[in-house]
This record gives sequence, C-alpha cells and structure tokens, in this order.
Amino acid sequence: MRFYQLQPEERRRILRAEGIKLEDIDDQVLKRLDELSENVIGQLRLPLGVAQNLVVNGQNYMVPMATEEPSVVAAANHGASIFAKNGGVKAVSHRDGIYGQIVLKVDEQFSLADLEEKFPELIDLANQKFTSLVGHGGGTRSISAKQNGNLVYLKVLVDPAEAMGANKTNSILEFLSVKLEQFDHVEEKLFAILSNYPSQLTKAEVKIDPITIGGEKVAQRIVLLSQIGYDDSYRAVTNNKGIMNGVDAVLIATGNDYRAIENATAVLANRDGQYRSLSKWTMEDDKLVGELTLPMAIGVVGGSIKARRDVQQSFSILGKNITSQTLGEIITSIGLANNLAALLAISTVGIQAGHMKLQARNVVAELDATEEEKKTVLNKMIEEKNYSESHAKDILEKLRGEK
Ligand code: MEV
Repeated sequence: MRFYQLQPEERRRILRAEGIKLEDIDDQVLKRLDELSENVIGQLRLPLGVAQNLVVNGQNYMVPMATEEPSVVAAANHGASIFAKNGGVKAVSHRDGIYGQIVLKVDEQFSLADLEEKFPELIDLANQKFTSLVGHGGGTRSISAKQNGNLVYLKVLVDPAEAMGANKTNSILEFLSVKLEQFDHVEEKLFAILSNYPSQLTKAEVKIDPITIGGEKVAQRIVLLSQIGYDDSYRAVTNNKGIMNGVDAVLIATGNDYRAIENATAVLANRDGQYRSLSKWTMEDDKLVGELTLPMAIGVVGGSIKARRDVQQSFSILGKNITSQTLGEIITSIGLANNLAALLAISTVGIQAGHMKLQARNVVAELDATEEEKKTVLNKMIEEKNYSESHAKDILEKLRGEK
C-alpha cells in the first residue's frame, strides 16, 4: 500500500520507526483529522484568544483569534477598546460575488458578439442546474468577455451566498465550459477556475477623538505614519503585515481560506502599480479618521467549517447566526484595530516595549521551574527590561540561591 492509502496510525508507526518523535494524539481526533486532509499524521495547535468589545455597526462582538504571535490579540483588544470609546466601527460591504475565469482558444472565424448574445441563456442554464445555491440566495450573476488574438477571457460572477464558494464556483465554471466548447469556432477550453482577484469588498471606518489616544500630537504622528505607508513600499508592507496579523488570526479561527485573502489583499495594495498601505489615517474636523478596505471572500458555511469543532467553537464565540457579511465586517474592523494599535505603539513608546514583555512570557514558559518561580522571574525581567533567555535563567538561579 502507498503511504497515502494507510490509516493514520500506520503512517505514525512508520515515522516513529524512522526515529521521528511524534506527539501523542487521541485516536478519535486523529481519525477526524484524517478526513479533513491527506497523509495526516498528527495535528498542529495554535492558541485561541479573544478580542473583546469590538463594536461594529452598533453591535458588540467577542472575536476569536488563532495566532502564535504574542501581542496580536493584545493589539486587537487595544484598538477595539479605543474604537468602542469612539462609537465603534462603521462597516459597509459590497458582496456581489466572486469571479470565475474561463479561457477559450478560438479560430479566426470566431465572433465575440455572437458568443455574448448567448450569455443570458448560459446564466439561466447555470442557475437551473445549481438550484441549491439559488435556493440559498446565490447563483450565477453575470458573464463578460474580452478577446485577445485567439484567446477569449470570460469572467463569470458567482454569488456564493453564505459560503466562500470556491468549490461551487469551480463546478459552475466547468458546467459552463462544456457548453461554451460547443459554440462555433471555439477550439478548446484552456482552463476554467475561480479567480482570487479581489471581490466581496468590505470597508471599515472609524472616527477617533484624539483625546482618547493621547492627544492631537499623537493623532498627527499617526497621520504622518500613514502618509509614509502610502509613499514608501518598505513601510507599507510592514503596515499591512500588522493588519494581516489580526485578519489572518480571525480567518484561521473561523476556518476560512487565509491564502485566498492574503493574495487578493496584495493585489489591492498594488492597485496603482506601487505597493501601498491598505489603511489610511487622516484628520477631518478635529477627528482622526481611519479606513481600511479588504477583499472578504469568506464564508460561514461550506468547506470544512461545519466539520470542525474547533471552528464551531469560534462561531459560538462570535454569536449565533453570524452572516458572511457580518463576519467580513468584523474581520476588516479587527485589521483596522491591529493597525491603530501598531501605529500608536510605533509613534509613542516604540513596538518593543509591549512586544518584549509578551515575548518574555514565552521564555519563562520554557523554564524548568514552579509556577511561583516563573511569576517572579517574569516580573523581574519586565522590571529590569531584559528579556533574554540567559537573563531568565540567571534570575531563577539567584532566586533559588536566596532560598
Ligand atoms: C508586527 O507583527 C506588526 C507591526 O510591525 C506592524 C506595523 O509596524 O505597523 C507592529
């Protein structure tokens, strides 16, 4: 039998025989994970934290965030608490659908105008075939096309309702491409696959009284940092990484495809040919105004979302009956919260003060010490602003010597 055909327990036996150290795992959990992926031999766990008090369009949310990076949840919390003092985030979504692409090879006699006449009929056929999607409020919405020599590029817009819709869109595209291949002078379909080009755009906006962030000067510094992020790609990519710290953490916690969002986001950041900040901070009528638009091709059903209890736990934290639109608005708001917290830290005390304190917890967690000793070591590291592993060990040694 090939490796992929084996039961996960058998795969683990083989790896162990090769000297690989594997973590223990519950049989039932292993079985369930094997159904989600391939060649499964174990699991990788991430801490799940919550950002509290995120107010979006007048509703208060607790937001699940899965990340291993210390300070990401703290930053989201900090940003969210400032937003809450200022009436929260206003978010709007344009959830018209996700794009699919079909590329056809055609001969010299092909007529694009003739093909375009058939588009309404093709949309009807797709919606008659994929009735369950239509029943859920989605469906194929539009088809457009352009020709470049002997290649015809079709763009199909599919509304996936409450799912991210990758599988459904691909099925629709394959169904349509069989029909398209029958048209006069179409030689063949080259491919039919969804496009991760930005769609399902969500915009989050906050208006902040400078008093709530330390005054006018701090607000002006944030505006300046934002301008630098617009002008300078070296800063822009770091600014956007801070945004994606929060965004990815919620995407992972909710079982969404963070690779799709990451790539679409990069296109948005590059939209005028230079890589720029995704967020923008300006002063308007004495208020600091922050805005962020992100492509939110996400779902609350479909994929492995229902099958994963860890993901269901996240939805339970978010609250009942959350729609994909609301989730997109929450995620974009978290991105803006992480961004504000990072800009505040950078423009005031610097990022290391908060970061290193949190990093110190990781160092202390690795010490072979009692909980009481760990607490004392951590406090001393913070007091002395020295967060190295060797310093942690020195403090511990000294502490034990004193006893
Ligand atoms: C660190 O993970 C993210 C930041 O560098 C983001 C930023 O600089 O805006 C703090």
